[in-house]
Amino acid sequence: MENKDYEKEFENKTIMITGGLGFIGSNLAHRLIKLNPKKIIIIDSLIKGLGGDIENIKEIKNNDKIEIPFLDEGGLNINDDRIINYLDDVDYIFNLAGSVSHVDSKNRPLNDLKINLLNHVAFLENCRKFIEKLAVKNEKPKFKILFSATRDIYGKTLTKDLPIREDFIIKEAADPQGIHNHGAEYHHSWYGKTFNFPVIILRLTNTYGPRQKINDPVQGFLGYFIYQALNNNEIELWGGGRSLRDFNYVDDVVDAMLITMASEKTQEVYNLGSFMKKEGRYQELGDNICSVGDAAKRVVNIAEIGKCNEIDYPEDKKAVEPGHVYLDATKIYEDIGWYPKTSFEEGIRKTIGFYKENKRYLENGEIEKQNYENIPFLDLKQQHEYLKEGIGKVIDSVIKKSSFILGEEVKKFEEEFANYCDNKYGIGIANGTDALKLALLALNIGKGDEVIIPVNTAIPTAMAIKDVGAELCFVDVNENYLIDVNKIEDKINEKTKVIMPVHLYGQVCDMNRILEIAKRKGLKVIEDCCQAHGAEYNGRKVPIGDIGCFSFYPSKNLGALGDGGIIITDKEDLKEKLNLLRNYGQKNKYYADIIGVNSRLDEIQAAILRVKLKHLDEFNGKRRKIAEMYDEFLKTIGAVIVPNKDSGNVYHLYVIRTKDRNGLMEYLREKMIGSLIHYPIPLHLQKVFSYLKEEGRFPNAERFAKEIISLPIYPELKKEQIERVCKEIKNYLE
Ligand SMILES: Cc1ncc(COP(=O)(O)O)c(C=O)c1O
Repeated sequence: MENKDYEKEFENKTIMITGGLGFIGSNLAHRLIKLNPKKIIIIDSLIKGLGGDIENIKEIKNNDKIEIPFLDEGGLNINDDRIINYLDDVDYIFNLAGSVSHVDSKNRPLNDLKINLLNHVAFLENCRKFIEKLAVKNEKPKFKILFSATRDIYGKTLTKDLPIREDFIIKEAADPQGIHNHGAEYHHSWYGKTFNFPVIILRLTNTYGPRQKINDPVQGFLGYFIYQALNNNEIELWGGGRSLRDFNYVDDVVDAMLITMASEKTQEVYNLGSFMKKEGRYQELGDNICSVGDAAKRVVNIAEIGKCNEIDYPEDKKAVEPGHVYLDATKIYEDIGWYPKTSFEEGIRKTIGFYKENKRYLENGEIEKQNYENIPFLDLKQQHEYLKEGIGKVIDSVIKKSSFILGEEVKKFEEEFANYCDNKYGIGIANGTDALKLALLALNIGKGDEVIIPVNTAIPTAMAIKDVGAELCFVDVNENYLIDVNKIEDKINEKTKVIMPVHLYGQVCDMNRILEIAKRKGLKVIEDCCQAHGAEYNGRKVPIGDIGCFSFYPSKNLGALGDGGIIITDKEDLKEKLNLLRNYGQKNKYYADIIGVNSRLDEIQAAILRVKLKHLDEFNGKRRKIAEMYDEFLKTIGAVIVPNKDSGNVYHLYVIRTKDRNGLMEYLREKMIGSLIHYPIPLHLQKVFSYLKEEGRFPNAERFAKEIISLPIYPELKKEQIERVCKEIKNYLE
């Protein structure tokens, strides 16, 4: 391929790097970001001691094109399906995750098996399941995978095997790492061939350069020599370090990865290295092959600090000494034109320069990982793990009965949830938006009518109203982000038919005042309770008036495993009408009395919600405790306004206010802490409602939209995590 033409191949492409925070993965990400990709998705397990480190991408991690969906200690579990969600758009996958030093693998073979081979198979399983999903739609994946592992020493070599070619077969395994790397290669090529996606395998030799974990030999001895030299320590050369090795500077390795990925080649294995046949004879390229001892001495010379000491080979290390190892890189040179361009001297100089400027790599001990633990804004997985047995059972039972629409489960759930809300009737609906819409229809609201709503709410509140043909009438919010009851009456005119207060974030609006105004003015009240499952007002659960609508969107305090909703009321006539409205206007099957729609809560969701409802008070209690902890800590920070204390609040969201909201959000993002804004744009400033021309008329909502930020809150959030969120907020704001 001509002069870096291959780089164009990555323009506007979505690229995934597993092990993307590690040594080679992070160098690859640094290079790729310059090639104008669409997106780089970085996956890393941040396994302790392996070198994955968010600081490795510190210069680029805030780039919009970098996405780090999750960081997890421990790598993928064999049934971990999370990667599938990111495969839709991916063009290239560099699968670089997981490989420990071969000495380490001898000491902890099962650990190596888990983070190396099992991790790769789990990854490939994600690809397989994704491909099966596509096959149903008659589609094929577009991605190509490059798998690469460092120092694939597959076994002891004999002099006649050198330089090692791609067809080298393990005769005597030197260590579990080699077996696992080799296994991972076979798995990649088998999955590629069987499920029809292109795979390229690169076998790397000793790679070195910036961003390597050098404070122990886990990623290679050369980096460790540099670490010892720069700390002016003695480098121990076991048995004098007589075995020959070859070395590649990381930029050359990244080049090889990009070139092979961009090439048409597929289902190939290529060695990298520094020894290849050129012009008919083997040549060492540059000065990149030497004995381990010479490499150490050259490092000390270039660093002008440190010293070497030859010692006897330690008995326990002898077993993993493979003898001379250097690779034949002729195939990649002949097929694709790659060869290493950086000499040992030049590479070591650059590397030493980097570590002198980035001293943290020279520190002893583990880089404090805790600071980089991912605290997502919401984590539903934990709750579902906790409830999975119960949920599994009821799903099975519904399947057994195979009655999926308006069966026993829906009926029971309607009763149980109505009872939970201290109301008589529940009407299961397909989602919260429809619940609001059908409630409006049941009250005969439509064209020519106006409905009063707060200007800070979720968009669906407004959409339900527009959907029945009525018009929106906005009211500003008070200091608690709820409809300002003092401003409602000004808005009432002859078209006004309904007040729709929204019990936002888990709080309840001033219902006494609202009900009093409504009564006096002859208006109906529909409460949007979509964020307020179990919330209380003067000791009573919502809805407080005649009719309330709930959503069971998965993130709600009571969430389904999909969409769901319910209308709660004490009024029998409303219940009767809503039962018809949600089911094609039918009272009895095939006999329609009124115009209706299809909007029913389904049996499976109802069955799941019945399981979850039993835990709602427990979960709400945990949310209240978390809020209390946030309150206690955050009220000491002057720049933060915490939510109003209210014992009826079920804290669907924990929303604080601060002037430098955008800065704080950015900072939390850097610290891997999720946060969101509810909501960034008040309704009257949404493009779709600009025709109402109300800009500037709701000063509270407009100001708050610039200052509010929602912090992580869910029952499973741990105390240490809450403390860390608070500590980081304090760090930033003070
Ligand atoms: C305040 C509010 N109203 C209405 C809805 C709409 O609910 P759904 O998403 O179930 O349609 C939601 C939830 O998204 C909400 O938060």
